[in-house]
Amino acid sequence: MDERFERYITELFAAEDPVLSKIRARHESEKLPAINVSPEEGKLLHLLLLLIQAKNVLEIGSLGGYSGVWLARALPADGRLVTIERDPKHARIAREAFAAAGLQDRIELIEGPALEVLPTLKPGFDAVFIDADKEPLPHYFAWGMKLLRGGGLLLCDNAFFHGAAVDPNDDSPNAEGVRKFNELASRDPRLVATIIPVRDGLVIGVKTRDKP
Ligand code: SAH
Ligand code: DHB
Ligand code: MG
Repeated sequence: MDERFERYITELFAAEDPVLSKIRARHESEKLPAINVSPEEGKLLHLLLLLIQAKNVLEIGSLGGYSGVWLARALPADGRLVTIERDPKHARIAREAFAAAGLQDRIELIEGPALEVLPTLKPGFDAVFIDADKEPLPHYFAWGMKLLRGGGLLLCDNAFFHGAAVDPNDDSPNAEGVRKFNELASRDPRLVATIIPVRDGLVIGVKTRDKP
């Protein structure tokens, strides 16, 4: 998208409060990769959770807690965000961010590799936001579909993966993972899905039924 439009949306609709600005500043001071969602994508995730009155949400890939705060702020006081992070340094910083946001009671960070943590979770999530490594995305698709309730939202960041998704010459494992995820989301009979072209692309799908 034209950067001017992105800035316009952000300034009007997704201005950060000091908590979010500080989390972003910590990415810099702690040298975390700057791959958190953008403010306007954070606002979109927040709005989507409000739309379905989500109470139980799962995130794969916490990083420094930036998207987690946008997500968890959409939950009621008795709601819960479970977020999975395998990097101990990221996990520590994300936990500090959740505490600084006053959200520590609403967020449970589980430290470990996603493919080891996912089998331990109870199904019934209202939404699953996938934003971690890209090669295992087909597995994350299967887990997301398993863990979502009927009517639940499947969300996945980096649908375009910086253009790699539409580059037929890019046969890297990451690009293949992203393309495979998008194909699965597009044709799974249990899901109605599309890509919202926000930032690097957000796959959004609603699980309409349990069986193919
Ligand atoms: N959702 C975050 C950004 C996540 S960046 C935000 O928008 O603020 C991707 C994160 O996923 C990184 O912190 C990385 O350490 C973590 N990650 C990568 N592979 C993982 C895996 N297999 N299991 C758990 N976490 C993983
Ligand atoms: C990258 C970007 C992301 O937003 C992400 O979730 C993972 C990786 C990247 O640019 O490599
Ligand atoms: Mg991402």
